Order: sequence, then structure tokens, then C-alpha cells
Amino acid sequence: MAKKRSASDATDDAQNDTVSLLPSQRKKPKHSAPNPDACFVGKPIPSAEARAKWPHRYPSEVKKKAPARSSEEVTSENSEVMLARCHYRQAKVDGVVYNLYDDAYVKAEDGKPDYIARIVEMFETVDKEQCFMAQWFYRAEDTVIKNHGDLVDKKRVFISDVKDVNPLDCIVSKVKIFKKNPSVDLASKKAKLPFCDYYYDMKYTVPYLTFSNLVNETVKTESDASSTISSESGSIGCVNNANLAKRKTTQNNSSGSSQWTLLDLYSGCGAMSTGLCLGASLAGIKLVTMWAVDINAHACKSLKLNHPETHVRNEPAEDFLNLIKAWAKLCEEFALLGSERSDSDPDMDEDENEAVQKEESGNQSDLEEFEVEKLLAVCYGDPNGVKKPGLYFKVRWLGYDSSYDTWEPIDGLSDCKEVMKDFVTKGYKKRLLPLPGDANFICGGPPCQGVSGFNRFRNAEAPLEDTKNKQLLVYMDIIDFLKPKYVLMENVVDILKFSGGYLGRYAIGRLVAMNYQARMGMMAAGSYGLPQFRMRVFLWGARPTEQLPPYPLPTHEVVSRGFVPTEFEVRTNRLRQYFSIFLKKHCL
Ligand SMILES: C[S@@+](CC[C@H](N)C(=O)[O-])C[C@H]1O[C@@H](n2cnc3c(N)ncnc32)[C@H](O)[C@@H]1O
Repeated sequence: MAKKRSASDATDDAQNDTVSLLPSQRKKPKHSAPNPDACFVGKPIPSAEARAKWPHRYPSEVKKKAPARSSEEVTSENSEVMLARCHYRQAKVDGVVYNLYDDAYVKAEDGKPDYIARIVEMFETVDKEQCFMAQWFYRAEDTVIKNHGDLVDKKRVFISDVKDVNPLDCIVSKVKIFKKNPSVDLASKKAKLPFCDYYYDMKYTVPYLTFSNLVNETVKTESDASSTISSESGSIGCVNNANLAKRKTTQNNSSGSSQWTLLDLYSGCGAMSTGLCLGASLAGIKLVTMWAVDINAHACKSLKLNHPETHVRNEPAEDFLNLIKAWAKLCEEFALLGSERSDSDPDMDEDENEAVQKEESGNQSDLEEFEVEKLLAVCYGDPNGVKKPGLYFKVRWLGYDSSYDTWEPIDGLSDCKEVMKDFVTKGYKKRLLPLPGDANFICGGPPCQGVSGFNRFRNAEAPLEDTKNKQLLVYMDIIDFLKPKYVLMENVVDILKFSGGYLGRYAIGRLVAMNYQARMGMMAAGSYGLPQFRMRVFLWGARPTEQLPPYPLPTHEVVSRGFVPTEFEVRTNRLRQYFSIFLKKHCL
């Protein structure tokens, strides 16, 4: 058997240690001796049919008609199209017959796992080379997730619009890939996959670092004449205001309520959530910051003054995570889950519930008998500073005023089941704390001080082991537990620069692994008319049932300052391109 050429013999990047599936970095196949083990089978596709389907491959058609491609399609042929003599529906490689639209392994460089592709064209070039057009599937580690590929199920791959032409003898073997409904969560529903090597439920759009639903994707069969993988508007990553304005003026969330709830983590004084709510209102969505969490008491006070309706929690996010888990268990224990909740305020001491700051508790003598009048607040942590973290309730003692209130551990309140039930029931009704599914949105920027250039002790080998970066884990764990419909994370560009973008890749990897559509990019506020040059990273997440929000088109030209990591820069450039096209179309 003749030695197989690898798909990347067609490229010059064999010495490069990253897997390059960007066809722009590939070359067209070299002319080489025909391989007797690879040939087309059967008659060529009738000329008229082939010309109608692939007009750009036939010279006379090229003059008449530009190649029909979606705006996202990335091929190595944008400048130079390989012309065809004829197209085929079948080929035989090493004794195995491949049909058009079969999926196959494609030879990679030595020592690397074979690529995975769909065969979307088989043709003989005018130079008598036997070729196929590969539409590439990406493994998680071939995407922006890279070294965090382990987060994602090994069997899961992502289809792309990246296509390029390869020699027929690069095909190695057949591969069975199942197209899965994205809303079926394999892990939680224990749904079984049919026998397959891989499955896919999302598309990866390379230039926009976007994982999105497969919209209108029809798996073609050999007999299909015209269908194709159509472009999903969200996957190009940006939208202009005109598109936004075309949307419905009021939108209900999928639970039927006209109000969408938002949890702002690391809220500070609430700038991010306030901006998000203002932006949502432009799209006709009433988004309300129902919960906010920050460790800084002054920031919490400020947020509460501006947003009296918000449940502001002044506590570390890691304690908040433990608290919401414990709260969900309590709601279950008191059989509240699924029961009705009112939007009106049940009788509850609001201010006291919000005040979860550590405070000196009045010292009670062990000898005295006290009776619990009511519970005022709940927190997870060590409110008495006795190094015994756990679930605590703030107690009002019968016959005593608020100066005698104390934080008591749950174990010490086992005799007060009715009082506790009353507190948890009222808290459940007024959504004191979010339960899984309660928060439609989670926004926030987990502090990652471990990436700062000012930090001389940065851990470049294992950035997630640095406690200064721990909040990224906490943030993702909160998302995992609450399962909001949408996520918007903001952060400094350093998370893409430090240690090869380790933390940024982890963040998007976690979202994708949790079955979110996800998109990562950078924006400068200056692009939207604010006097701010600095770039910020924004990571969107949307459950498969929702539409992945796009980035807004820039409205202002901005000279960005500082170094921008090139791999992530593509988005910025693309936004610029769209911006100039938009300007030409609408303003000139
Ligand atoms: C950059 S600021 C957030 C700004 C905010 N998103 C806004 O739009 O104004 C980071 C915030 O994280 C808070 N923070 C830091 N560590 C925290 C932790 N472990 N838990 C909760 N909040 C924390 C800080 O107090 C600070 O307010």
C-alpha cells in the first residue's frame, strides 16, 4: 500500500506544535504520483448537476457567478479556487467505499491524532488530481479551549464551517458521528447515545471563538441536491442596533414571566448589572437584579441604596455557593420546591435578612434558657469568628430586642423546626436566595488577581491552584448549580495573556462542558463612545434553548492601547471590518 499523505502535507505547519485547522494556513495539495489505493468509483456526476452545485469549480461558470458561500465559511480557496474536470459521488480508499457526506478520519502529521472531517465534495482537478473537500470537525482541544479539552466529553466534537481541499488518499477510515439534540443533557438525563465514535450538538465558528447551536443544519445525504449548512446569525458574533430594534418589544422568559431575574456576582456597586438591565430594556426585556453578592460592605451598601429591591448579600462568593446549596436542601426538606411563590413581599424583616456581615454577637450565658422568637437571616460561613464554618441563622430571642440577636449554627436549632420552616417558607416565597433555575441571568467578573503583572509570585504552571484565581472556579460552580439561561462574564485581558490564556480557555471550556453555547471576545468601551481605551474580555453563555447573544457592532473607531493577544484579536478585527461595511452601507 502506498504511504498515506497527511492532510497537513498540504500545509507547511508540520513543525508547528499546534493543530492548525485554519485553512488559510494550508496550501493546496501538491501534485504527486497517483495513489493506486485511492480512486473514484462509478460515473462522474452529470456535468450540469455538478456545475449547478459547485459553479466555482468550473471555469465558464466562474466568470458568470461568484462562489456561493456563507459569510462564515472559511476556506483556503478564497483567493485561488481549484478547478474541476468532474465531480464524483463515491470513492474507494484502501478498499473502503466512501460516499459523499460520509464522515472520515483524515491523516494528520505523525504522532498526532487523525483529523475528523465530513467529505462534502469529491472531484478530479483539471490537473487530474483526485481530491476531496473536507468540512472539519473540531475536538475540544483543537478549539480555543485547547489545554482544557479534558473538561469536555471525549466523544463530543464540534462541526465547523472550515473547509479545504485535500488529496483523496489522506482519507484513513470511516468514523461514525451522531448528531445529537443539544437540549438533551447526557449527564443529567442519563440518556444513552446510539453506537457512535463521536457525537456533535454544536457548531464551532473559528474566527469568532463561538460555540453555538446547529441552526437549520441538514445532514446531507448523497442524494441531496441543494441543502447546505446554513449560517446561524448568532454565530458571526455581532449585531447592529437595527437588528436589535427589529426584535419584539416585549419578551417573556420561557417560564412565562415578563420579568427576567439577574444575579450579579462580585457586584461591586452594581455597574455591570445596571448596564445589563439598561441594555436588556432596549431589547424589550425587563431584567431585574434580584440578587447581588460582594465581599465589600461599602459596595453592598451603595448597591442597596440604588437598588432597594435587590437582595444584596455581603459575603464571599464561596460562602454564597455553600449557602445556596444548603438553602436548596432546606427548601426540599420543607417540601417547598415547586410550590407557588408570590411576587408580593411576604412579611419578613427585609433589612435584617440582608445584613449578613460578621458582627459581635451578644454573649449569652450558657446557664440561661432562651426561647427563639423568630429567625431573621441565614448565612454560610463563620459569623461568630470561631473557626467553625457552616450554616448559621440569625436569631431574635423571645423577650429581647435586636441588640441581643445572635448567629446560631443550624445544629443548635434542631428544636425549632416550626420557626425554621416559617423562615424558609417566607424566604422561598420571596426568593430570598436563588434556587436552581431561578436566576435567568448570571453576570459578573470573578477577580483573577493571580494573573496581574504586578503579582511577582504568579503561578504560571498551574494558575488555577493559585488561591488568587480561585474565584473563577467558584463562579463556574455557581453557574453549574443554578443553571441560568444566560451568563455574561467580564474580565481583564490578562486572563487571555497569562500562561497562554489558561484561565480564559478554562472559562469557556467550563461553559461548553456545562452544555452552554459560548462566545469569547474582547471589547473596548471606547468603541461605543465612552472615553476608555482599555480592552476587556467578555464571555457569553446561553443554554441551548436560548439564542446566544451577539456583541454589538462598534459605533466609534478606537485606537486600542496595550498588547492584545493575537489569537483572540481576530474578533476585534472582524468587528472592525463589519463596522466599516456597516458605515458604508448606512452612512455613506
Ligand atoms: C472589579 S470589581 C467588580 C466590579 C463590578 N462588576 C461593577 O460592575 O462595578 C470586583 C469585586 O469583587 C469583589 N470580590 C473580591 N473577592 C470576592 C469574593 N471572594 N467574594 C465576593 N466578592 C468578591 C470585590 O469586593 C469587588 O467589589
